Amino acid sequence: MTQALRLGIAGLGTVGGGVLDILARHGSLVAARAGRPVEVVAVSARNRARDRGHDLSKIAWHDDPAALAVDPGVDVFVELIGGEGNPAKGAVEAALRAGKHVITANKALLAHHGPALARLAEDKGVALNFEASVAGGIPIVKTIREGLAGNRVGKLFGIMNGTCNYILTKMANEGRSFGDVLKEAQGLGYAEADPTFDVGGFDTAHKLAVLTSLAFGVEANLKAIDIEGIEQITLEDIAQASDMGYKIKLLGVAISSEQGIEQRVHPTLIPKGSPAADTDGVFNAVVVKGDFVGDLMLEGRGAGAHPTASAVLSDVVDIARGNFRPAFGIPARDLRPYTPAPPKAHEGGFYVALTLHDKPGAVAAVAKILADEKISLESIFQRGKAGKDEARATAPFILITHDTVESAMRAALDRIETDGHVAGRPRMIRIERL
Ligand code: HSE
Repeated sequence: MTQALRLGIAGLGTVGGGVLDILARHGSLVAARAGRPVEVVAVSARNRARDRGHDLSKIAWHDDPAALAVDPGVDVFVELIGGEGNPAKGAVEAALRAGKHVITANKALLAHHGPALARLAEDKGVALNFEASVAGGIPIVKTIREGLAGNRVGKLFGIMNGTCNYILTKMANEGRSFGDVLKEAQGLGYAEADPTFDVGGFDTAHKLAVLTSLAFGVEANLKAIDIEGIEQITLEDIAQASDMGYKIKLLGVAISSEQGIEQRVHPTLIPKGSPAADTDGVFNAVVVKGDFVGDLMLEGRGAGAHPTASAVLSDVVDIARGNFRPAFGIPARDLRPYTPAPPKAHEGGFYVALTLHDKPGAVAAVAKILADEKISLESIFQRGKAGKDEARATAPFILITHDTVESAMRAALDRIETDGHVAGRPRMIRIERL
């Protein structure tokens, strides 16, 4: 009988439990595809006493994931702990140094240390596979690394955080508050341990850094990403956008051009009917533009136990078959240094929400600043009055611009904020006419 591939799983939370479920239900299917049985022989987690609904009595237990990483009985170290630093980082390094294959779902680790870990894996001739790190069950890593190997990719974008998409969808469809829906998403196991990683856009940024590296053959550069979360998005913004034919989505966008690479994460107005606009709830979608294949969109569940575990199992089968490649598609030493595009060079439309003091000349003053900055307006909306107490004092005012360079938009908003005609900071949401 062919020797089993022996897994050691560090982290038995949502995803770790999902891997155990899939192996319990699809053991023979996975073995047939892997060409050999796949067994979990050792695990490590924080709380040994917790009932996980699986019999772990025949599986070795390690309190320390770094000890699991070098357990001689383990062939593949599966890191499902999360976090950019230790214990995940130390354990992954220890496993690679010990010549073990590594599977990780840890986008933070890859976004911060991907090139160094990939070099270590390549020096040792082992796999560093991370399909589960981006967009849960969607096989986007394999698609870019293998399926699109004959293409040069110029742009990719996507909805890559299930929690944010779930929140924005429920706010839009049910008129519920941000906080209320966030609690529900946490209860369903979608959110990170610290949900600011989700709603602040950092989780999407980690995933974008990984895809950028794969798609453009450059070293991951998280620091170069302009990040904005969804915390400031209001029900009013969502309703206003909808009336104008847009949905609001948290997008990660990466573009490679002669000017360099641009990476952004921010709430975005996208036209209803455009790719990914109908990707709602916990679903994710990633669109990749290859020069020969054209546009490609993959959509699926981006979070949750079983979709993410499904991605882990695809890495397991590849390793079992000896089918693994350099982690980022080309040898880590050949990844190009990251060259950023000039800051704020992005050009597009903008949605701007202002609270105007309801006095003669206020609109004219705003319009003059926009004209000075050569910003052309597509639409203007004034929707009723602000709160009752201020009924006579302020009025919400929405502007949609034609395509404008972001630096000009920001300069205009700085001037508008200090010009005495608005209350509070104007809010700006980018529009992508995808
Ligand atoms: N918290 C993440 C999300 C889980 O909501 O998409 C998958 O990375």
